[in-house]
Amino acid sequence: MTEFTRIQALSKVSIALSTTLRLDEVLYKAIVECIETLNFDAAVIYLLDENKEYFIAQHFYGIPTETVKHMKKLPTDSIGGVVAASGKTVVTEDLGQYYHQRPQLEGFKSLMSVPIQVKKKTIGVLDVFTKEYRVFEPEDISLIESIGLQIGVASENAKTFLELEESRQLNADLLAMQVDMQERERQRIAQEIHDSLNQSMVGLYFHLQYCRDEIDRSPDHVLAVLDKLLSMTKENIQEIRQIIYDLHPVALEKYGFLGAVEELISRYSQQGLMEIDLYIQGNPSRYHAKAEIYLYRVIQEAINNIYKHAHTKQASVSMYFESTEVRILIEDQGIGFDLTHKLKNREAYGLLGMKRRIDDLNGRLTITSQPAKGTWIEVLLDGEHHLRKDRDPQDD
Ligand SMILES: Nc1ncnc2c1ncn2[C@@H]1O[C@H](COP(=O)(O)OP(=O)(O)O)[C@@H](O)[C@H]1O
Ligand SMILES: [Mg+2]
Repeated sequence: MTEFTRIQALSKVSIALSTTLRLDEVLYKAIVECIETLNFDAAVIYLLDENKEYFIAQHFYGIPTETVKHMKKLPTDSIGGVVAASGKTVVTEDLGQYYHQRPQLEGFKSLMSVPIQVKKKTIGVLDVFTKEYRVFEPEDISLIESIGLQIGVASENAKTFLELEESRQLNADLLAMQVDMQERERQRIAQEIHDSLNQSMVGLYFHLQYCRDEIDRSPDHVLAVLDKLLSMTKENIQEIRQIIYDLHPVALEKYGFLGAVEELISRYSQQGLMEIDLYIQGNPSRYHAKAEIYLYRVIQEAINNIYKHAHTKQASVSMYFESTEVRILIEDQGIGFDLTHKLKNREAYGLLGMKRRIDDLNGRLTITSQPAKGTWIEVLLDGEHHLRKDRDPQDD
């Protein structure tokens, strides 16, 4: 093989490896260039699988279809297996001695097996075969070895690229979900107003009409209906209050976020829904309106989740107000859940809403949950930054 051919091969492989970032394409191009320029007859690339247990064939070139199925996994006691374990190239100019043990090699006479490495770690093996006896010169060997190294770098790049792509996709999904979340919230409010208020107002209207029409004919009955309408209206008022409260808790303005949380917690206990311990340490201050409502929403969602999903009637909220930092923990010892699974299945609108709010405040939200152990939500916030200054126009 001439020096020119070697340089040509190396540069063709380099180009192949750098043009595209999808690993299978990269590997296939590299293998084709390598074989065709250098006049080999066949090649196989093995790479470590995800669990780092086996070397699995990624690409075959020039291997008869019949033989391919015997070469999918690299046996540890094969030549390639030795290369994988030692990280050193093995050259076999006469494969004849192995035919007995591995009949699939028949048809090939010589083999060079080089490690594919990244940062000195062997992540794969490149085997090149010839059908005629071939004496590999040291320059050939170092050429194939350098191709092995390039494949290593390319596969690493492709992996990084893939991870980047995935995280970009996740971000896009999150954004889409946020918009969706706002839309759902509006839908929920509209539905609630429709179901409770609208229905009873319509009912009220018809009943009142009835009363007006019947007042002379059957005053006693009208009186009874009016009594019913009075109690219905009273319930309506209660419902309106609840809807308004859910939209924006009045206590928040009056008593601050801590007061609103206290009220929230006491509502759970008054209605016999759940007992929530509240633990406060340090000196709470008043924060910007946005910080207060966001913190409140996060606690509200976390408690609501415990009530809905955790299968426990016990929870705790702890708040630590330090000179600069606010730290809030919401804990339960309920059934817990698998966060990654929920995120993957797009079943975490509420949790993502919490995260979005705390991100928006430049804080940090950590959700830790373990099936059968419970859930632990931590919020960290730069309290000083969000302190309410006197006569802050934002808060008027
Ligand atoms: N404290 C908790 N205990 C057990 N499971 C929870 C808890 N919080 C959340 N989950 C689980 O995580 C899922 C996602 O929560 P969330 O995003 O708030 O959605 P939603 O409450 O609308 O179902 C819930 O459906 C539930 O399965
Ligand atoms: Mg929820």
